Amino acid sequence: AEQNRELKERIAKLKKERNAIILAHYYQRDEIQEVADFRGDSFLLAQKAAQTDAEVIVFCGVHFMGESAKILAPNKTVIIPDERAGCPMADMVNVEGLKALKQRHPNATVVTYINSSAEIKAETDICCTSANAVKVIQSVDSDEIIWVPDKNLGDYVSKFTDKKMIIWEGYCNTHDMLTVKDVMEMKAQYPNAQFVVHPECRPEVVKLGDFVGSTTAIIKYCKESDCQEFIVGTEDGTGYQLRLDSPNKTFRFATKFLVCPNMKVNNLKKVAKCLETMQPQIYVPPQVAEKAKLSLERMLQVK
Ligand code: 13P
Ligand code: SF4
Repeated sequence: AEQNRELKERIAKLKKERNAIILAHYYQRDEIQEVADFRGDSFLLAQKAAQTDAEVIVFCGVHFMGESAKILAPNKTVIIPDERAGCPMADMVNVEGLKALKQRHPNATVVTYINSSAEIKAETDICCTSANAVKVIQSVDSDEIIWVPDKNLGDYVSKFTDKKMIIWEGYCNTHDMLTVKDVMEMKAQYPNAQFVVHPECRPEVVKLGDFVGSTTAIIKYCKESDCQEFIVGTEDGTGYQLRLDSPNKTFRFATKFLVCPNMKVNNLKKVAKCLETMQPQIYVPPQVAEKAKLSLERMLQVK
């Protein structure tokens, strides 16, 4: 506790000196969320990155999030606590594979989940996050959509459109691990609880949800609901904001395995260190960044 207090003081001081802002995803460790200027899901944090006046963005999340911030705010310096914090789902799609798919379906619009590399975004018509995926799909003109990389989110949004969806086979290791059996056991044990679930979970698990939504949507739903007890089907870091917003409600995560090891690579010490050394910085080659930016900006314009 004493060490954390010192680190927090150091971070506050460095933040001022550098004119920096700390953005933290809801899956980050509590200690990081505590020092963040803004906490949010992928969508909110991308918006904040695009809007901030700060010179430096410390992005506490995984690599693609820092990259998206840099693409949206190319004149800012974007630093991350640890370069090794990646997203395995983002790595499940490669540019050659996507290009081949585009060749086979020349009239399809490419809709890409923000959990993807800058190179993939550069080959994309429009990005989305779990918060706006349905709206983005509905905003597309063509009858055919190439959807990368999350097959579970793809299945979920396909229920809201008649368009033909060509869905890539990627998934999030953390959310995809949750099974119907896990959820049914929790529901049996806590019959008064509502099950809130992220659409990165398997379709049969999502089907069991009393509420389905992005991390921010889940937090908002639980805060506003009359229900006092929830079984949570998303990453365990979300508990920080859930409990902060609703200290008298009970939140039980559906299993103890709903932890993204990549998100947890970051810690307070590394936040202080990156502010001190201004390393590691995110760099995106300009030709890639320019194209990727269009796909992110189109997403931000969808109402
Ligand atoms: P959201 O931030 O859109 O809820 O997505 C969750 C996620 O897995 C981010 O990596
Ligand atoms: Fe990627 Fe899943 Fe971790 Fe999000 S929770 S960063 S989608 S592995």
